Amino acid sequence: MSSSLGDGSGDGVADTMADNVSTGRLPGDATPRAVIERIIRVDHAGEFGAKQIYAGQLAVLGRGPKGDLLRHMAAQEQVHLDSFGKLIVDRRVRPTALLPLWRVAGFALGAATAAMGTRAAMACTVAVEEAIDAHYAAQAADLGEEEAPLRDMIETFRAEEVEHRDIGLENEAELAPAYRLLSAVIKFGCKAAIRVSETI
Ligand SMILES: [Fe+2]
Ligand SMILES: [Fe+2]
Repeated sequence: MSSSLGDGSGDGVADTMADNVSTGRLPGDATPRAVIERIIRVDHAGEFGAKQIYAGQLAVLGRGPKGDLLRHMAAQEQVHLDSFGKLIVDRRVRPTALLPLWRVAGFALGAATAAMGTRAAMACTVAVEEAIDAHYAAQAADLGEEEAPLRDMIETFRAEEVEHRDIGLENEAELAPAYRLLSAVIKFGCKAAIRVSETI
């Protein structure tokens, strides 16, 4: 698999060299530029989507008894998004072209699950955060020592995503109607969204 062609960034030669370097890379070796671009692009997209999910949930449940919990998680997502937004600029990474889609899909997912009730909203959070936990863990393992600041940031955010998952579980996510189906569908959607946002 190579993403060295057609990414529009204009440094195809550097990308190709980076991809070559990535072959047989050992832990601690330099992380290729192409890997960094994918990580920042997809994480920025994911945090944007997360912010939209909570915005959708707050539109429905913001005045209810879980409003403050949802605002707490939304505030952390905003910090995550701002941090990756800064990296998009500082490290000159093209954001995903799919932001308009994630704006609508994230809000719709949040609002739809919230409309099913607080348990379904929490089930949505648990499913999303479980997918993100695995995603961030894999990324952190991929990053070399020279990318320690980015790796630490991802680990910090991962701990907060795990906290969100636990909040969901403590708030009866598993008692949501059709929990297993709901969870499986949302996780599948997250993984698909991650895959396309890495490159598109
Ligand atoms: Fe987040
Ligand atoms: Fe989160």
